[in-house]
Amino acid sequence: YDVHHYSFILKETNFTRLCEEKTILTVNGMFPGPTIRVRKGDRAFVNVHNHADYGVTIHWHGVKQPRNPWSDGPENITQCPIKPGKNFTYEVIFSDEEGTLWWHAHSNWTRATVHGAIIIYPDVGVTPNYTYNAEEVIILGDWYKENLTTLVNAAAAVGIDPNVSDSYTINGQPGYPNNCSTETTYALPVQEGNTYLLRIVNAVMNTEMFFGIAKHNLTVVGQDGAYTSKFDTSYIMITPGQTMDVLLTANQSPADNYYMAASSFAASDAPYDETNTSALVVYNNSPSSILYPQLPLPNNTNAAISFTSQIKNSESVNLQEGFDERIIITVSANQLPCDLDKCDGPQGNKLSTSLNNVSYVSTSIDILQAYTRGLLGTYEELPHNPPFPGTNWTNIERDDPEYIFPSQGTKVLTIDYGKSIEIVYQGTSIGNPENHPLHLHGYSFYVVGTASGNFTEEAYKENLNLDNPPKVNTVGVPKSGWIAIRFVANNPGVWFMHCHFERHVTLGMATVLIVRNGTTEETSLLPPPVGLPECS
Ligand code: C2O
Ligand code: CU
Repeated sequence: YDVHHYSFILKETNFTRLCEEKTILTVNGMFPGPTIRVRKGDRAFVNVHNHADYGVTIHWHGVKQPRNPWSDGPENITQCPIKPGKNFTYEVIFSDEEGTLWWHAHSNWTRATVHGAIIIYPDVGVTPNYTYNAEEVIILGDWYKENLTTLVNAAAAVGIDPNVSDSYTINGQPGYPNNCSTETTYALPVQEGNTYLLRIVNAVMNTEMFFGIAKHNLTVVGQDGAYTSKFDTSYIMITPGQTMDVLLTANQSPADNYYMAASSFAASDAPYDETNTSALVVYNNSPSSILYPQLPLPNNTNAAISFTSQIKNSESVNLQEGFDERIIITVSANQLPCDLDKCDGPQGNKLSTSLNNVSYVSTSIDILQAYTRGLLGTYEELPHNPPFPGTNWTNIERDDPEYIFPSQGTKVLTIDYGKSIEIVYQGTSIGNPENHPLHLHGYSFYVVGTASGNFTEEAYKENLNLDNPPKVNTVGVPKSGWIAIRFVANNPGVWFMHCHFERHVTLGMATVLIVRNGTTEETSLLPPPVGLPECS
């Protein structure tokens, strides 16, 4: 394999968007940040120098890092933050990933501006089962006019979600028709007849997105660093955390130009950013017109489901053998009593979220150290089943005092090496039900079934796909529905599992998967690297 070296300087940089200048945290002064390019199985050493005046960590989203949680990055899970003025070199170990992934800061809300794409080409001499003339990274993001730390802290103080962003962005630009943005709209020049591989990343903080291009079909060929079977579609739906590889063929009239655009998919009544962001597909320097795509409306759940249900693995995989353990995890929005007299959340409470009705509490020493050093009492085991009597999870009264308040704790799921696991994520009716993009570090997993309503054996049998389930690292748990995933616990370590809506992980929708060492050196953790940031 090849070894690549990158230097990431984290620093505050001035940018002007939506007519206003502000300072944001960047890598090497760029927003979005630099692209990492490797081949399957390579290694990248990324030396991160922190010139911010607060601690930051970086995560390599979707890179499995076999036996190497030391370089995975989530703050207080696998490491303590890189302190101001310090640096740390991450060793990013690629294994079977191919396609597009991304990296992002994993400390509080810093990922809003600290993120970039990771492109993983196949082995030398190997080609995927599609061809293209050129490739382009398309990163969906958002722009907040206010200082994000101020915004997030103010909301937390009164127990509510922070304000939504002021605009979405494509490759850092809000684009037409947002204020002061038409001139700087991101542009992709194309040549009639050529095919472009768009490597799309949803780096948006809190919203699932629809994306499409006027007049053009897209051909989906990959998701989350794995190949999918090819299919054509006029739009995609992509959750925060997900990446999708799609082909665009420039087969429309070259007299015109075309917008690509992204807009919210919002399955609940939680507030969302109502702006559209756009970028240009440029055939012509003096077009007769510029066409804008029609995207599904934000509440169009059917459009989202009908897109997602078409995603299949490019190969057949054999999962007929079943699994050793099924873990059922409920995914809920909750509330907590206010620390003040009264908060601005529902009934004067503050908002919370949970997995199996436990809201994750962060620790000051990271879980990886606590685990490897045997620091008892840092964390406890999360029940492997929901704490509700019965299985009618989608019919719990939304404000039931018994369940609206989750318990709070640092709770983890511990699994023996080599076990094959099925996890069923089940949305509940507690609080304000919505979709949740659940992400697992250290693994990708097969999505073997999903439906709305309660998980039952009958619903499971009816919706099971053990032949060509897609292999992903982030999956949308449907509002008041369930989704079942499978993986073999063959990567020992400490791996964060959480909703990729930042407002939900902040409120506790998280746990940690600890996979014990196997019996040999090759199935055990690598030794810790030198220079791991110290915890204070
Ligand atoms: Cu994309 Cu825990 O991260
Ligand atoms: Cu969520």
